[in-house]
Amino acid sequence: MNAHEIIAAYQRAGQGQVFAFWERLDSASRADLLAQAAEIELAEIESLHRTLGVGGGAAALRLNELQPAPCTRLPGRGGNVTAWNRARAAGEAALRGGHVAAFTVAGGQGTRLGFDGPKGTFAITPVRGKSLFQVFAEKIAAAGRHYGRPLHWFILTSHANHEQTANYFSAHRFFNLDRNRVHFLRQGRMPAVDFSGKILLETIGGIALNPDGHGGSLRALHRSGALDLLKSEGVDTLSYFQVDNPLVRCIDPAFLGFHLLGDSEMSSKMVPKVYPEEKVGLFCLGAGQLGVVEYSDMPPAMQRETTLDGRLRFDAGNIAVHILAREFARRMATGGDGAALSFHRADKKISGVDAAGRPVEPERPNGIKFEMFVFDALSFARNPQLVETSRADEFSPVKNAEGVDSPRTAREDQLRQFARWFRAAGVGIETDATGLPSLPIEVSPLFGYDEPTFLEAWNKLSPPPVVSTGMYLE
Ligand code: UTP
Repeated sequence: MNAHEIIAAYQRAGQGQVFAFWERLDSASRADLLAQAAEIELAEIESLHRTLGVGGGAAALRLNELQPAPCTRLPGRGGNVTAWNRARAAGEAALRGGHVAAFTVAGGQGTRLGFDGPKGTFAITPVRGKSLFQVFAEKIAAAGRHYGRPLHWFILTSHANHEQTANYFSAHRFFNLDRNRVHFLRQGRMPAVDFSGKILLETIGGIALNPDGHGGSLRALHRSGALDLLKSEGVDTLSYFQVDNPLVRCIDPAFLGFHLLGDSEMSSKMVPKVYPEEKVGLFCLGAGQLGVVEYSDMPPAMQRETTLDGRLRFDAGNIAVHILAREFARRMATGGDGAALSFHRADKKISGVDAAGRPVEPERPNGIKFEMFVFDALSFARNPQLVETSRADEFSPVKNAEGVDSPRTAREDQLRQFARWFRAAGVGIETDATGLPSLPIEVSPLFGYDEPTFLEAWNKLSPPPVVSTGMYLE
């Protein structure tokens, strides 16, 4: 469409205010504004406007119909050891066959951390200060080496951090990964609207646009051609995780195996909630479908319900680690069989310009942002599998600058994990009552990325080194 047609389409849709300052813009700014305007699907905004109270997946379920989600428990917590072994073998076979790729969502704004740069470049390991991206790169490299098939790695970026992310990888020579196997996908954007559905301007020549949520990752996989690339490479399974969790097992054969043996299109990991009011989304069944209910949507009495054995009835916390079948991602992205993620609304303070073009810094929410959540896809998936994992081994997100889920807690949780591995190898390490070692130590994922691989590598060291302050094993 040319400029005239785009402007006319906006006027017909009642969104002519987007071009209110057209006469004041130079030609470069006009081109930028047109490019932004062309990115937006006006029909989508119109339908969101009509249904502003949108929710998606489980959020739309009736609370009184919710049931706890069935889950494969860890061995030692009721899980069947034979089933875990079978699953691990199936996952390992898929990895040896080269059928798995890694997928990190890193398009978020990271407002709570307040770090100036893409969150993945944040230094997080306790001794070497490796970045989150380096930790994942080394885990993915180690898995590729272990199974004899290097993996493709897809990283979801946003318009705001795409260049910086790609430059960061170039500057660090892709952490020795094959650069042809590391792919950056820019996610889509959604405009913010005011409470009457009018698209807001950030400047006189720019629309207030935000990333479309981690659910936008599915559209981005399709639009970027990533799904076609995967198909041509014989990869049918994606291991999905967030950029903020240094403990994550980027590639977990047992989890992959449960997904594959269960003939599932999407599977998720859960950790039991620690206390009833913990702020974590909960996997639940509603009308027979698996979904995630936000903690804020579940009444406190329901959060506190217990079973006869004293466990919380709704205890399956979402840690945002999923497996996606490639063709399921395509179906979700293209709307095949009516599958589509809904947008969620969030009322926010949106800085911008008023009708006269003057800057506005609102003191209370003045508009709505729209995001899709990837976990809403579960309710469209065939045979979704929910698998328990251990929080200590796999979940310590960096969300806030201080306090809970901060760089400090994530570094301490890594130290506790390294100390457990050393202890399992028979090395006496002094710790406090929480398992935190008194010496800073660090294990590179290239040495060992979980307890079994650590023990395998440690037992080959002869003689084993003396553990000392600042020790780094590579
Ligand atoms: P969060 O919900 O923690 O949001 O994202 P955030 O934007 O990173 O941080 P805050 O809320 O502004 O402090 C969870 C994961 O989803 C990714 C993030 O990068 C993170 O890995 N994400 C989130 C996207 O990739 N795109 C989005 O639009 C939103």
